[in-house]
Amino acid sequence: MLRVEIEAVAARRLDLADSAAIGRELKAMADELGGVDVLVHAASVGSTCDPAKFDQIEDVTPQGWERMMAVNITSPFLACQTLTNRFEDEGGNVVFLGSIDGVKSVPAPVPYATSKGALGAMVKSLAKALGQRRIRVNLVAAGVLEAGASRTLPVALRAEYLKHCGLQRVGRVDELANVVSFFALSNTYVTGQTIIVDGGL
Ligand SMILES: NC(=O)c1ccc[n+]([C@@H]2O[C@H](COP(=O)([O-])OP(=O)(O)OC[C@H]3O[C@@H](n4cnc5c(N)ncnc54)[C@H](OP(=O)(O)O)[C@@H]3O)[C@@H](O)[C@H]2O)c1
Repeated sequence: MLRVEIEAVAARRLDLADSAAIGRELKAMADELGGVDVLVHAASVGSTCDPAKFDQIEDVTPQGWERMMAVNITSPFLACQTLTNRFEDEGGNVVFLGSIDGVKSVPAPVPYATSKGALGAMVKSLAKALGQRRIRVNLVAAGVLEAGASRTLPVALRAEYLKHCGLQRVGRVDELANVVSFFALSNTYVTGQTIIVDGGL
């Protein structure tokens, strides 16, 4: 998609559930690009079921759970492990995408909330581990947006969200992107934090 919209973009297909491929493919991409300035990890699995739905506890299979954790937790760690070695001496920014499901006590699919909650702990510990190398690591946790991952949110829960959301509306994709852009491109002194973009839930 990015390649369609921006001609100069280089892109590779990578199955982030394939842990063995991540280091190899990302290393090859970093070699091709000649280094890395910023890592943003946004890909995510929202449901353990196929087709995707708002998982109930009884829907969750060990295989579905493992696939979600591979993409949502293992792949951000492996991407960080591989690519932060390629940052320049002046360091850089790592941004993961999280969710309020992993931060606040809201009705949420248990596997998804678990995976996003783990990212909150991961950014705190990575921030300490990578701080000496001037690498900042943060999590941008979204509420309900107009598109994307929130498509499996049941209608009643969406209405409940709007009732409790300070701004009384779902977020736009560009509103989340603006925050991610700041933490990816301009941030110099915030690290180990979860930044919540949920309109005030
Ligand atoms: N949209 C929201 O309301 C919302 C709310 C809270 C948090 N978030 C977070 O924001 C981030 C972006 O969300 P979104 O709305 O764009 O989600 P989305 O529409 O569900 O898209 C998920 C993306 O992850 C990719 N992906 C899934 N499994 C993959 C795999 N094994 N290997 C490689 N790529 C894989 C998908 O690629 P394919 O299309 O090729 O499958 C897709 O591009 C996610 O981390 C999500 O948890 C979003």
